[in-house]
Amino acid sequence: MNVAVVGTGYVGLVTGTCFAEMGNNVICVDIDEVKVETLSGGEVTIFEPGLEVFFERGRRENRLRFTTDLAEAVEAAEVIFLALPTPPGENGSADLSYVLDVAEQIGDLLAGHPDWGYRVIVDKSTVPVGTAKRVTAVMEASGIEEGVHFDVVSNPEFLREGVAVDDFMKPERVVIGTSSSRAGEVMTRLYEPFVRSGNPIIVMDEESAEMTKYAANALLATKITFMNEIANLCERVGADVDKVRRGIGTDSRIGSRFLYAGIGFGGSCFPKDVRALHRTAHEHTYEFQILDAVLRVNKIQRRVLVPRIVEALGDEHGRLDGRRIAMWGLAFKPNTDDVREAPSHYMIKDLTALGAEVVAFDPEAMDTTRAELGEGPIGEGSLAYATSVYDAVENADALVVATEWPEFRRPDLVRVRRALKQPLVFDGRNVFDPDRMAEAGFEYHCIGRPFVAPAIVLDEVDDVAEA
Ligand SMILES: NC(=O)c1ccc[n+]([C@@H]2O[C@H](COP(=O)([O-])OP(=O)(O)OC[C@H]3O[C@@H](n4cnc5c(N)ncnc54)[C@H](O)[C@@H]3O)[C@@H](O)[C@H]2O)c1
Repeated sequence: MNVAVVGTGYVGLVTGTCFAEMGNNVICVDIDEVKVETLSGGEVTIFEPGLEVFFERGRRENRLRFTTDLAEAVEAAEVIFLALPTPPGENGSADLSYVLDVAEQIGDLLAGHPDWGYRVIVDKSTVPVGTAKRVTAVMEASGIEEGVHFDVVSNPEFLREGVAVDDFMKPERVVIGTSSSRAGEVMTRLYEPFVRSGNPIIVMDEESAEMTKYAANALLATKITFMNEIANLCERVGADVDKVRRGIGTDSRIGSRFLYAGIGFGGSCFPKDVRALHRTAHEHTYEFQILDAVLRVNKIQRRVLVPRIVEALGDEHGRLDGRRIAMWGLAFKPNTDDVREAPSHYMIKDLTALGAEVVAFDPEAMDTTRAELGEGPIGEGSLAYATSVYDAVENADALVVATEWPEFRRPDLVRVRRALKQPLVFDGRNVFDPDRMAEAGFEYHCIGRPFVAPAIVLDEVDDVAEA
């Protein structure tokens, strides 16, 4: 089939590349000329395991092309995916301007070329309930008719960064929101090869499909946050959250995934989508109280280590001037270079605001961090980048682990201890075993597992980085 993907960012590039791998002819469109040039030149613009092989094959066999020309793509494709940004607007609601602008342009193109025939326009971006109707209305304003010239379908994307290619090629389910049987058939034909093992293609109305995506992300963010609060309580009562996790994860009603305690969720989706759903509820005069709590708890949790670091290393004014802190991990989670809303960045801002020198290492996310936070003086301290895990800890007063990359799990602890000025480790992702750390001579702080928790009021740190 002939497919276009408008917006060649994280979701768009994975979507386009995977459709091409399945034998479709795909044109990816982006307004970012540099990105299109880079991709056309054969270079993948994001780090995502497995993507490069499909990308190279698609380009070599001429099934995957990139352009800045929307008209070229709309002319060629019967199905047009919108994988455009939906960033939070001022009040937390999703900003739909990218989606509606492109919808208007597609409407004008179709109105100007009636000979091009029928098109299915697919909302792949995460968009609030009612967006499919708004996209339809914007397109109809160009003078074309729903059901005759086009239909709009909601097809939320559930891929996880880091395993996005696998998730796209073997989805646990495909959700298609449409009230048009014609569009439903086109979408089913397109997705059937991805669900050959029997996973369902679930067809529903547009509104329910739109809500499904938000409900999924909000529930997952809630599950993580719930475990983080259990962990905080474990620390105070002397329980071990890891044992609790295993104890409850074997209950099939609960399930074993998304139960790991840590320094909060980040990334481009959970924070934004929870805020947007919370806002949607508010606009419909419903106060979604659980989501309010999830957002508040996560805001504190992503900085939960900062007061502990200050307790251990701060001077009498709670400052960290002259302290060097190694940070392993910058990406918001392993196997990605994405640093949007990464807890590491919140901590870097807090620690440097207190005068610390942070030396960071991440296997993939140092360039993306450099682009966002820069290098050298920052706040009242500084940020530098190391060449390896061992380079980062050299002469540092403490090590902070902010992302659970596999390579951080089994370092040479003797080498780490020798390199550090003080054997002090703050493990925000519970990657190390507390007993082994004690044996290796470290003072070890982690999340929700027995150690002596300092009596610090967590809210106090908010003021530091906000300033
Ligand atoms: N990243 C994820 O893991 C994930 C997962 C599921 C759903 N989503 C949703 O998918 C959507 C896209 O997310 P993303 O992470 O891929 O965003 P992104 O920022 O990585 O990519 C968006 C792309 O759209 C391009 N763009 C902007 N305006 C354009 C225009 N007028 N025409 C053509 N291209 C344009 C940008 O240049 C950029 O390359 C969002 O709604 C997001 O919530 C993301």
